[in-house]
Amino acid sequence: MTEKKAFRHFLKVSDLDSSGIRDILDLTERIRNNPEDYENCFSRKTVGLLFEKSSTRTRLSFEAGVHQMGGDTVFLGGDSQLARGETIEDTARVMSGYLDMVIIRTFGHDRIDRFAGHSTVPVINGLTDGHHPCQALSDFSFIGKEFGSIQGIRMAYVGDGNNMAHSLMEAGALLGVDLVVSTPPGYAPDAEILRWSSEMAKKTGGSVTWMENPMEAAKEARVLYTDVWTSMGQEAESTIREQAFSGFQINREMLSVAAPDVIVLHCLPAYRGKEVTEEVLDGPRSKVFAQAENRLHLQKALMLFCTGKG
Ligand code: CP
Ligand code: NVA
Repeated sequence: MTEKKAFRHFLKVSDLDSSGIRDILDLTERIRNNPEDYENCFSRKTVGLLFEKSSTRTRLSFEAGVHQMGGDTVFLGGDSQLARGETIEDTARVMSGYLDMVIIRTFGHDRIDRFAGHSTVPVINGLTDGHHPCQALSDFSFIGKEFGSIQGIRMAYVGDGNNMAHSLMEAGALLGVDLVVSTPPGYAPDAEILRWSSEMAKKTGGSVTWMENPMEAAKEARVLYTDVWTSMGQEAESTIREQAFSGFQINREMLSVAAPDVIVLHCLPAYRGKEVTEEVLDGPRSKVFAQAENRLHLQKALMLFCTGKG
């Protein structure tokens, strides 16, 4: 087996410290402004994508990012031998022998931990049930571009205490954001992630808190963020979830209590008329498509960071 150089996995935001996250966001900015400076960074490299769930943005932004930096990609969907019972550990050992990096989208977060524990090349989390760290880093890089700074920005996340909420909480804490997460009581974020994030935020000059009342959370927010009420893998719960989340929609009324310069973000895909109204999603405060485009720049920066080139 070929010997591989030092590298970093990126499985969740709290794998980073404040300086690591800032390095990635600074590199994202440089790549956004001068993509041509990075067009040979992945030359002769092959990146594998192992996806056990659907994807549009994550797959495309990684694949386009690798190609734009001179490398190649191989996509493995639901038809790999994993689906027929080959273990995660054996799959990791085999993929490491062919590839220079692996991006994984899967169900339980333990699956990516197990893969990374047996991989000799960098592994990046392209979403698990517990975390969506690439999206959160990209979103804070986008917020920094929109407002000129991130520290102290008041942000409200309204909806499900899911993978997206967890990664935004961890990133917001490391970056000194004032983040309020508002969910129905049975759908609060993981208690340990909330504890970690609120402790970390005290050190960075921000705050991460949970509350039930979404209108209270949205007051004076400069960023209003939501995600789907039913994540991939939870489809059987969608009816009960729609009832539980009915007061948590981002709509005209919620926008009216936010700051005048508020921006509305959503990781997408969006379900119009559920977590966000069509009027708001297509309205002047929504930045969701520019937000999605930013994934491309962030993905490149993250891959360079994980291979020690950042
Ligand atoms: N936001 C996001 O990760 O989108 P996809 O599920 O389309 O990759
Ligand atoms: N929470 C959503 C995010 C999709 C990008 C899900 O896991 O399906």
